[in-house]
Amino acid sequence: MCGIVGYIGYREAYPIIIKGLERLEYRGYDSAGIALFDGSGINLSKTKGKVEDLKAKAEASISIEGSLGIGHTRWATHGVPNDVNSHPHYSNSGNLVIIHNGIIENYGAIKEELQNRGYTFSSDTDTEVLINLIEEVMKKEGVMLGKAVQIALNQVVGAYAIAVFDKEKPNEIVVAKLGSPLAIGVGENEFFIASDASPFIEFTNNAVYLEDEEMAVIRLGKEIKLRKIKDDSIAYPLVQELQLNLEEIEKGGYDHFMLKEIYEQPHAIKDTYRGRLRSAQGIIKMAGVDDHLQEFMDADRIIIVACGTSWHAGLVAEYIFENLARISVEVEYASEFRYRNPVITDRDVVIAISQSGETADTLAAIKLAKEHGALVFGVCNVVGSSIARETHAGAYTHAGPEIGVASTKAFTTQITVLTLLALKLAKERKAISEEDFTAYMLELEEIPAKVEKALESNAIVEIIAEAYKDSSNCLYLGRGYNFPVALEGALKLKEISYIHAEGYPAAEMKHGPIALIDDQMPVVVIATKKGHYEKVVSNIQEIKSRHGKIIAVVTEGDEQVRDLADHVIEVPETFESLTPLLTTIPLQLLSYHIAVMRDCNVDQPRNLAKSVTVE
Ligand code: G6P
Repeated sequence: MCGIVGYIGYREAYPIIIKGLERLEYRGYDSAGIALFDGSGINLSKTKGKVEDLKAKAEASISIEGSLGIGHTRWATHGVPNDVNSHPHYSNSGNLVIIHNGIIENYGAIKEELQNRGYTFSSDTDTEVLINLIEEVMKKEGVMLGKAVQIALNQVVGAYAIAVFDKEKPNEIVVAKLGSPLAIGVGENEFFIASDASPFIEFTNNAVYLEDEEMAVIRLGKEIKLRKIKDDSIAYPLVQELQLNLEEIEKGGYDHFMLKEIYEQPHAIKDTYRGRLRSAQGIIKMAGVDDHLQEFMDADRIIIVACGTSWHAGLVAEYIFENLARISVEVEYASEFRYRNPVITDRDVVIAISQSGETADTLAAIKLAKEHGALVFGVCNVVGSSIARETHAGAYTHAGPEIGVASTKAFTTQITVLTLLALKLAKERKAISEEDFTAYMLELEEIPAKVEKALESNAIVEIIAEAYKDSSNCLYLGRGYNFPVALEGALKLKEISYIHAEGYPAAEMKHGPIALIDDQMPVVVIATKKGHYEKVVSNIQEIKSRHGKIIAVVTEGDEQVRDLADHVIEVPETFESLTPLLTTIPLQLLSYHIAVMRDCNVDQPRNLAKSVTVE
C-alpha cells in the first residue's frame, strides 16, 4: 500500500509531488509527507491525515522550493498513523532521506543491531530502520549511496518500493523495487518516480517499470541503468509508451470518482469486449487464450484466485464457466489458497483476477500455482502491473483507471471478460450449440445499452437511500448468479458507508439471518425473472411475514414482487448468466448515495486502500 512520488529535474518539485500524491491517495491516506532539497539542505514536512493536510502544513512551515524531492502517502503497517511515523524518514546524520512502500519483515533484528551501534530512532517504523542501515553501510564500507542501498537491501527480508536521496549528492535519487510497484517517468532532462504513472502523465508518456529485485541510480544528465539488487548485473530498461491520458484520472464533473466510474460502465464494458467479440465472424478472439488453447482444453479444472470484489467476480465466473463450458471451477481467496498447501497440478488452469494487478496475496498465489506447473492466466485492469507480468497469459479488462477505492467498473468488466472466456471455451469444447453461442454474443452486445438503462434507476435509488441511510444493518440476498452480486452489494455498503451488511444466498436465510429480521431491517433481494424466481419470491414472503423492509431488484415489468416489496428497482431483462452485469448497478448506486448522505468519504473510506500490496 502507500503511494510514493519523486522528482528530479528543472521544474519546481513541490507542485508535482503534491499533485502526484493526490492521485496516489487511493493507495493509502492516513498520513503524508514530503522532503525537498532547496539547493543547500532538506526541507521536510509530514503529518497525520490527507495530502490536503500536508499541503497546509508544508506551505506554512517549510520552504517549498527546489527541483529535487520525494513524497509519500501512507497506509500504516508498522506504527500508528501519526506525524512521527509518517514518511519521509531521515537517517541519523540527517543527510539521507527515504520514502518506502512495503514492509521490512526483519526490521526488529536490524534495529537492535543498529541501536547497539549507537543509532537512535524517533519513529516505530521499519522504514527508519532501513534508512539507517543504508547510512551505516555507507559509513562502514565507504561506498556511495547506490551501492549502500544495494548492500542494505540484500540484508532485508520483505517488500519495498523505495526512493532515497543524499543531501550531499543532490543530483541523484536511488530507487529499488521488490513486491511493490515503481515506475520511472523519463522526460527531457528530468525524471519522475511514482507508484504508478498517474503522477507524471501530463509531463511524459515514457515510462520504465522496474521489475522485482531491480534498482536504479537516477542521475540527471545520465540514461537510466537498472541493476539487479542481488548480483549487480545490469538490465536494460524497456521504455514503454503510456496509453493513459489525463482525462481518465480526473473526476470529469462528477462529485466523486466512484460515481464517475459507476457511470462509465456502459463504455467500459464495450471497451472490454471490443475486438474480442466478433459476432459477424461468429468468433471470440482472445490472444492470451489462443496461445495456450491446448492447456485450456486439457484442463481438469479451473481454479480462480482473487481478493475482495475481484473474488466476487470470480464467484460469478464459477457459475458461468460451469454452466456454459462445463468445466469444474473452484474459487479461492488468494490469501487462503497461498497458505493451505492446496493440491495443484499441471492439468489445472489458475485464473488470477485483480483490478490493480498488485494485490500481494494474489501475486503469491500465482507464484505458488506456477511452482506446481499450472498455467496461470491473469485478468487485470492495470496494464503492465505485477500480476499481468507474472502470469503466463491473460486478458486485460480495459476498464480505464479505477480510482475510487470501492471497486465498481472493475467488477463488471471482469465479469465481461470472464464471460467471453467461458463462451470461447464452451465453443472450443463443444459444450454450447452454435445457436446459443451466437445468441450470447448478440446479447452481450446489448449489455452496454442495458447497463445504461439500469443506471436510470438512480433517482429511485436515491429515494430508497434516504429512507435507509440511518440503518445500522442491512441484508443482501440473491440466488445463483446473483448470490455473488448480493455479496458484492453488501461489501459496497460496508466499505463506504460503514453500515454492517451481509450477503447471503437467499435460501440460506433460513439457517440464521432470518433471526435478524424485524421491522428495522432493510433486506435487499435480487429477484430477477430468470433463475429461481419463484423460490426468491417465497423468500420475500418469508421476510415480509417478519416485517422486514424489502428492497427488490427486479426485471422490468415485474408485478408479482412489486406487490410484496416496499421498494422495487427495475433492470432490463437479459440472459440469466448476464444479469449480474445489470443487478449490480443499483446496488452500487445505493451504497454510493447512502455514503454521501452519511457524509462519508466515498472515494477514500477509512482504513481501506485500493491496492493491498501487503499480506
Ligand atoms: C482492496 C480494494 C478492493 C479490491 C481488493 C482486491 O480491498 O479496496 O476494491 O477488490 O483490494 O484488489 P485487486 O486490485 O486485486 O482487484
